[in-house]
Amino acid sequence: MLEAVDISKKYWDRSSGKHYDVLRNCSLTIQSGEALGLMGPSGCGKSTLARILLRLLPADSGRIIFRSQDLTTLSQAQLKPFRQQVQFISQRPESFFDPLLKLGASLREPLQIFGLPDNSEIIESALSTVKLSPALLDRYPHQVSGGEVQRLSIARALLLKPQLLILDEPTSMLDISVQAQILHLLKSIRQQQQMAFLFISHDHDVIRYMCDRQLQMRGGKLV
Ligand SMILES: Nc1ncnc2c1ncn2[C@@H]1O[C@H](COP(=O)(O)OP(=O)(O)O)[C@@H](O)[C@H]1O
Ligand SMILES: [Mg+2]
Repeated sequence: MLEAVDISKKYWDRSSGKHYDVLRNCSLTIQSGEALGLMGPSGCGKSTLARILLRLLPADSGRIIFRSQDLTTLSQAQLKPFRQQVQFISQRPESFFDPLLKLGASLREPLQIFGLPDNSEIIESALSTVKLSPALLDRYPHQVSGGEVQRLSIARALLLKPQLLILDEPTSMLDISVQAQILHLLKSIRQQQQMAFLFISHDHDVIRYMCDRQLQMRGGKLV
């Protein structure tokens, strides 16, 4: 479904005044419905690869193919179906929510952007999937906990009926008991809705619990 072919990326290092390799010829394929784990130590380039796959950051070379279309040749307007079908769950979900908007308005925003049906039943059903009360809709982002913000960001992604979720250490900022609840929730959502996951983590146990198959990133390469 999503394939990356020979992705390379360099960053500029200010202190040495040189470019250095973050990703070297990384290739991977995510099949429909599978949960692929991407493991590697902190700083090895996992988030960089995620952002490149999401077309949020350009690669220096390589191709990204989604449903037989090369994304690297598409304009922002042509990317719109991809932006709906592939959703991102971040380590810092609060950055997805406008601090000045009530959470209900933030949840509805993507439905309006993509021209999807928007009514309170749809929103409440997404909230019940992530086990949140509709009372949260009237609050602002600073009035909910970290775990609740992450559940909201999952609800927001699910409203768009994605075929793939790219999850970049989605529980690493949460305390242990909340982490376990969110992982459990994600796993059951995937079983019910049969979507694919690219699940990124530095934690081997988390990857083992969540994924069917895993790739290891080391020295800018995937093994
Ligand atoms: N925009 C950037 N410019 C320069 N270096 C960066 C930038 N973003 C990340 N890095 C560096 O690239 C390396 C990989 O970062 P990242 O992809 O965030 O790794 P991971 O997600 O595996 O922890 C790190 O050394 C990080 O400091
Ligand atoms: Mg990261």
